[in-house]
Amino acid sequence: MSQVTIESVLQEERVFEPPAELAAGARIGSMAAYRELVARVEADPDAFWGEQAREQLHWFEPFHTVLDWSNPPFARWFEGGTTNLAYNCLDRHLDGPRAEKTALIWEGEPGDSRRFSYRELHAEVCKAANALKALGIRKGDLVALYMPMVPEATIAMLACARIGAPHSVVFGGFSAEALRDRLIDGGVKAVITADGGFRKDKAVALKPAVDQALADGGCPTVEHVLVVRRTEQPTAMEEGRDRWWHELVDGQSADCPAEPMASEDRLFVLYTSGSTGKPKGVVHTTAGYNLWVHLTFQWIFDLREDDIHWCTADVGWITGHSYIVYGPLSNGATTVMYEGAPRPSKPGAFWEVIEKHKVTLFYTAPTAIRAFMKSGREVPDHYDMSTLRILGTVGEPINPEAWMWYREVIGHDRCPIIDTWWQTETGGVMISPLPGATPTKPGSATLPLPGIAADVVDSEGRSVGVDEGGYLAVRRPWPGMMRNVHGDPERFRKSYWEHITGADGRPLYFAGDGARRDADGYYWVMGRVDDVISVSGHRLGSMEIESALVSHPAVAEAAVVGRPDDLKGEGIVAFVTLQVGLSGDEALGAELRRHVGTEIGPIARPDEIRFSGALPKTRSGKIMRRILRALAAGEEVSGDTSTLEDRSVLDALRV
Ligand code: WT7
Repeated sequence: MSQVTIESVLQEERVFEPPAELAAGARIGSMAAYRELVARVEADPDAFWGEQAREQLHWFEPFHTVLDWSNPPFARWFEGGTTNLAYNCLDRHLDGPRAEKTALIWEGEPGDSRRFSYRELHAEVCKAANALKALGIRKGDLVALYMPMVPEATIAMLACARIGAPHSVVFGGFSAEALRDRLIDGGVKAVITADGGFRKDKAVALKPAVDQALADGGCPTVEHVLVVRRTEQPTAMEEGRDRWWHELVDGQSADCPAEPMASEDRLFVLYTSGSTGKPKGVVHTTAGYNLWVHLTFQWIFDLREDDIHWCTADVGWITGHSYIVYGPLSNGATTVMYEGAPRPSKPGAFWEVIEKHKVTLFYTAPTAIRAFMKSGREVPDHYDMSTLRILGTVGEPINPEAWMWYREVIGHDRCPIIDTWWQTETGGVMISPLPGATPTKPGSATLPLPGIAADVVDSEGRSVGVDEGGYLAVRRPWPGMMRNVHGDPERFRKSYWEHITGADGRPLYFAGDGARRDADGYYWVMGRVDDVISVSGHRLGSMEIESALVSHPAVAEAAVVGRPDDLKGEGIVAFVTLQVGLSGDEALGAELRRHVGTEIGPIARPDEIRFSGALPKTRSGKIMRRILRALAAGEEVSGDTSTLEDRSVLDALRV
């Protein structure tokens, strides 16, 4: 990991108090209440989590132990208990008036829309669960989802949870190659997909990528493919392997009891990029994840019964898992799912959805906000968004200008901005303002949620001083923490728990981010300290993109770095050396960009390819990314370059 330096410490003096009306009725309505809650958890964390788990979740069998941390980093939460996430998201809301309450509002890209009450969603999930059973899917079998943003994605996730088949959702924007890697790594038994989805006013096929991933016996464990009809494109179906969703699911019984799952039974695997190797399958388990998304959703959105919540993420990412599907439904809230995205023909697409469905809680990414700023306030000003109560952001640091614009133009100075820091690995939000309590500062995620022992530390695990840069770490387990890397416990230990050890000899959770804390204890997350690049809030490993590049026959060596980008947060720059005798030109650059798109997905395509005769390396052969980062950003290469093996490389790269 690289050294954390803070050359340009952001000086932000503005502070915004929570609106009085909001604080008045809030679940946590003042800083005193927040501090009291923090003190209560700190006094006895196990007692607090145990009490919350008993109160907030339904249990078939009660647990006997809150936390077993005797074998770090392998935590076991709520041992002895059995529960079911789909039961908590559906069945327990069917007894009273919530049964007829809208659970899911779905808005399609072409303007079609569907609504499901809790009762209806429950029936659909049971039918899908019975269909999976009919295919021979049993408790413990891994099921992959490769889907557009259609209600069946949510239904399929809940159906898997209902029968205890962990899901592995693969973002629909990933390529066939990337899908194949994930299917193989997981040992997936069935894939749920769709003929296609609508993107930017066009029908885009999806099923062919599944066919390609499975071609030539590429994924021998996959026995079934279930295909949702969405776009009605002509779709090849393989006899004996592929089934249409409507043919198999619609005729099933709407009664399917939820399987009692042990607290630590695996709930899902979700792949994310790290600094080394292929993406890791992050494993989350049943009860702890359920409790964490349930509690955090209540806290950060100060949830009320009549709220309409809309998170604009894709269900292919953790944000979609936790705050489109599981957090809202576990709480009996109404959640909105949108297939489309703002586009030239519909720049106000988001605001239209807010107006149409009277959204009260809105959760999106800084990169989207920056794009809206560019097209001007005339677009949002055209819509009635007076129902909005709380505005959230997630995925990357938000610059104060974007924060202020969000507050003024979208929130009309009425809505608190909650900048939420978390990760695929953390399951749910970790650091965030509480809208009724925490005074906010533009660009700061403010304070850890109650029970989260976050800290900013040096490499020895010592807390650093006020405004000093350090590594963002967590000192104590929390219920939503990832439990393992699928199939690779050693990698789990190495990636997250071996970087920093506390003075007491206990490992700290290393998040991979740099941060500083100001005099009020507020966290300012500064971005990754490893070789992870964040493009529009999507996490990509430099090494993954490098491997994709060197798999092209023309490429000898590649080094990939991020460079600051006004819109996307970071853009991707690839330094490439070619095989002897070849020379780089624009056409080859375009071909390499396409190649990365095919290997990983369009989001990983480099913005720029720079051909060079050699790459800057240390004497031991390590590529000096720090130098490449400076070059990519057009900055002077500063700091020590004495370890550089061949100084002429640097001069050649400068031109
Ligand atoms: C990484 C995690 C968690 C859902 C979306 C991303 C960055 C996330 C913030 C924030 C600054 C943030 C970090 C983190 N990040 N939220 N509020 N401020 N940075 O999940 O793909 O697992 O990525 O996103 O760098 O480590 P992810």
